[in-house]
Amino acid sequence: MAQLWGGRFTKETDKLVYNFNASITFDKRFYEQDIRGSIAHVTMLASQGILTEEEKTQIIEGLEGIRRDVENGILEITEEYEDIHSFVEANLIDRIGDAGKKLHTGRSRNDQVALDMKLYTRDEIRELDGLLREMLEVLLKLMRENTETYMPGFTHLQKAQPITLAHHMGAYFEMFKRDRSRMKDIYTRMNYCPLGAGALAGTTYPLDREYTAELLDFAGPTLNSMDSVSDRDYLIELLSAMSTIMMHLSRFSEEVIIWNSNEYKFVEIDDAYSTGSSIMPQKKNPDIAELVRGKTGRVYGALMSLLTTMKGIPLAYNKDMQEDKELVFDAIDTTKGCLALFTGMLRTMKFNGDRMEESAKHGFTNATDAADYLVKHGVPFRDAHGIVGKLVLYCLEKKIALDDMTMEEFKAVSPVFEEDIYDAISMKTCVETRNTLGAPGKAAMDKVIVMETQYMEENPQI
Ligand code: ARG
Repeated sequence: MAQLWGGRFTKETDKLVYNFNASITFDKRFYEQDIRGSIAHVTMLASQGILTEEEKTQIIEGLEGIRRDVENGILEITEEYEDIHSFVEANLIDRIGDAGKKLHTGRSRNDQVALDMKLYTRDEIRELDGLLREMLEVLLKLMRENTETYMPGFTHLQKAQPITLAHHMGAYFEMFKRDRSRMKDIYTRMNYCPLGAGALAGTTYPLDREYTAELLDFAGPTLNSMDSVSDRDYLIELLSAMSTIMMHLSRFSEEVIIWNSNEYKFVEIDDAYSTGSSIMPQKKNPDIAELVRGKTGRVYGALMSLLTTMKGIPLAYNKDMQEDKELVFDAIDTTKGCLALFTGMLRTMKFNGDRMEESAKHGFTNATDAADYLVKHGVPFRDAHGIVGKLVLYCLEKKIALDDMTMEEFKAVSPVFEEDIYDAISMKTCVETRNTLGAPGKAAMDKVIVMETQYMEENPQI
């Protein structure tokens, strides 16, 4: 049991207590960030004359050696250390001797862990943003290719009005675009360096906190040392933003599951992204979509968990805060995994355009347009609504679509109908005349596609 704080204690920590307290099993994942932070710290210490240039060089070479050896699998991060900070420091002292003992000058594990977690999270936010961007690329491609692929649009999961696949994909484009903007917001707000806050009240060494912040690509240092070591807001914000990403993915999954069902057959999921049944040979299951929907709960849970952990903590650092890590790591892994898998599934999924158009035709999705036709010929809307209601009833009895009715049948319900009704309620007319910005009509959709293309150009990965 390698500990950093033996001096004051007379008994060895009980093994159970030690294990309960230790964090090495999970904080080993940010060894790279811990080393990066330490290199910046000693660089600053030397520039302030707190360490000599020689000590600095020795320490940095030692730290780089540790990083290399861990990367190459030569050095294993084992559980004999309490946490990643102890592991790095102990290894450094082993390698370079006394100079290594100066690494922790003017620093506490409280500001160190606050820094490591920020560096780690910042890297992960970039990756999340990259994955969201890939999803947007796939969606935009689908939008470009499907401005005339008709399908039913739903309200209450009942066929409502015809739309296009481009329009439907466009709705998800907006959601994931907002998710990206949340990533950027969080990144900007959290991007201040806590190092130099010490345990809670700064240090007596003449640290140059601006310089450390600059070395680590932060916008600047944090401004209150107590807040610096106990701020976990950015993790709560990230968990909330990831919960929203998962909610979007879950809604999308639900649609894919419905579209993939035998009753709909709107899509065919690529073999690589579906699974069979061990007993029913006819089945091809949308397991990936179901798992994504299922995993959403885990990420929501992490958000609730950290909010609850943080709610009663007095200033400044308290050990409760160690609980931020496993939750956040799991939520990040889950969200990244789900984003990558869903994007792959979407990229390889086949959309059955004929089936979708057929479905839109047989769901009276043009009923509003039939009523609008009457309104344009002078019938008050409420009467028009009633007339079309009668037509729908008639069609339901005869098991036909509005488009299949003869002129005589139309006339029998209202003499206002003329030959041009067929054109007025055709799928093409129904969609193409909806051209308000944001609507499914091709002209409107093309305009939006140009705007989204520009958005992609102007917003590279953070
Ligand atoms: N493992 C700790 C954490 O994750 C590091 C900080 C330890 N600080 C302390 N005063 N025990 O929060």
